[in-house]
Amino acid sequence: MTLCLILITLWFGFLAYIAEKIVFPPWNFPKNIPTIPFYVIFLPSIIDIDQTELYDLYLRKPLEKHGAAKLFFGSRWNIIVTKPQMLAQIFKDEDTFAKSGNQKKIPHSVIAAYTGDNVISAHGKIWRTYRSIVTNGLQHFDDSPIFKNAKLFTNIIEQHLNENSKERESLPMSGLVQRLCLDNISQVVLGFDFASLSSDKNPLHNHLMRIKKQIFHPFFLTFPFFDHLPIPARKRGFADVEAFRKELVKHVDEELVKNYKFEQTTFAASDLIRAYNNGVIDRKQLTDNLVILLVAGHENPQLLLTTSLYLLAKHSHTWQKKIRNEIWEVFQSKKLSELPLLNSFLYEAVRILPPLNTIINRCTTKTCLLGNNVVIPRGVYVGYNNFGSSHDTQSWGPDADEFKPQRWGQDIETINKNWKYAKNTCKLSSFHGGRRACLGEKLGLVEVRITLAEMLRRYEWILAPDWEEKMTPAGPLGPLNLKLKFKKLNL
Ligand code: HEM
Repeated sequence: MTLCLILITLWFGFLAYIAEKIVFPPWNFPKNIPTIPFYVIFLPSIIDIDQTELYDLYLRKPLEKHGAAKLFFGSRWNIIVTKPQMLAQIFKDEDTFAKSGNQKKIPHSVIAAYTGDNVISAHGKIWRTYRSIVTNGLQHFDDSPIFKNAKLFTNIIEQHLNENSKERESLPMSGLVQRLCLDNISQVVLGFDFASLSSDKNPLHNHLMRIKKQIFHPFFLTFPFFDHLPIPARKRGFADVEAFRKELVKHVDEELVKNYKFEQTTFAASDLIRAYNNGVIDRKQLTDNLVILLVAGHENPQLLLTTSLYLLAKHSHTWQKKIRNEIWEVFQSKKLSELPLLNSFLYEAVRILPPLNTIINRCTTKTCLLGNNVVIPRGVYVGYNNFGSSHDTQSWGPDADEFKPQRWGQDIETINKNWKYAKNTCKLSSFHGGRRACLGEKLGLVEVRITLAEMLRRYEWILAPDWEEKMTPAGPLGPLNLKLKFKKLNL
């Protein structure tokens, strides 16, 4: 009887805890912005719904009306923001909305062990040190490996076409695009060759695949608390992540340090090594930043390239044809960046499907006012929803949901002016903005332009008939397991 009472008390205690922590936002959260029901974030794990559908059903109305809302995400209640004026305030006031990445938010998690304290997640003086070290290498780089890799990539597609009969020629793109982007970032920024395009059985690549599965496990991403527990699979995850970090540094060491190549090269990795040798950063900070350059440097372009391939396939009779005509005779990176159709297409791709959708990694350092009347207490996580910002009808007009590259303008000067204006005013936050603007935007866009140009010169492609048109259910945003069907052009 007594045991029964204890169990009942424990059970009700547990329910009360869940209600307090999960079902309702904390009492001191602002009351004048809407609350997205707590279960919304769990829906993609239960039913077949992608994040654009989820946005339309649960987030669009409250966010378009209020510009901010309370959202349960990553084991806690947060505030997400989509209105440009509010975003501009957050991006500007770094001291109040301080960057607080996984190393601070969930320091016990596998993902925090993977990326550590780095240029994307750090705050204040440490961030300034990291940023000053890596900026030059990310802004001024040699693009010749990207041209070479685009050729290797298109050769693999050709090999696929040669090996398969006409009926079976649809090609899954995600693995292949990932291999391309890994080779690009390793050769352009880290100073060694990941070499995953030359072999799909490359051990470093396989290792990365394995740890990605552990890091992006939907359950542990939603409930990072469980990484506190001695779960054998998670323990293996920690060990695997540590081994990968060591392996990555070993490759950089072998290629840049042992032969003093870092002294003569301007890779971002060379600058990090110099800073380490001069005692500006320690060994862990060196590793953390090498890892984040690899992670941000391949994941994000991979998403943008996949989305671009998808949109060109979806608009094969219009945009694919028009851009093919435009790029036909253009073989230099600078010239590609001056083409109106290619660039308005790319900017629209970034707008319609921003590769990184929800980002919540800022924490208020004091009670503050967001906009005119939203009072946020100290210690609250605040983030942004890029899809929401770039589909907001008040910013983009009634056709915000339509894919319309022509909205950016007709000539390249107007297109680039509109692109800069959209970023400066935070109407478009896909590359963040302000002092913490993405340092790899230029590199990411160069990669996508070069690869698309090479592909457009060699193939026509459409969406594979056996591919179900769906976006990713959570996390990074893009077509889920995209499959395309290619046809070689008669040159
Ligand atoms: C092409 C697609 C890309 C997109 C859409 C993208 C997007 C973003 C976004 C949204 C942020 C801000 C993240 C936050 O709020 O915490 C960011 C920051 C950053 N990105 Fe990118 N990124 C891309 C490519 C790259 C590449 C290729 C690199 C190269 C390594 C890179 C390096 C960085 C760095 C270093 C920062 C941190 C800037 C700072 O806080 O000072 N990104 N990026």
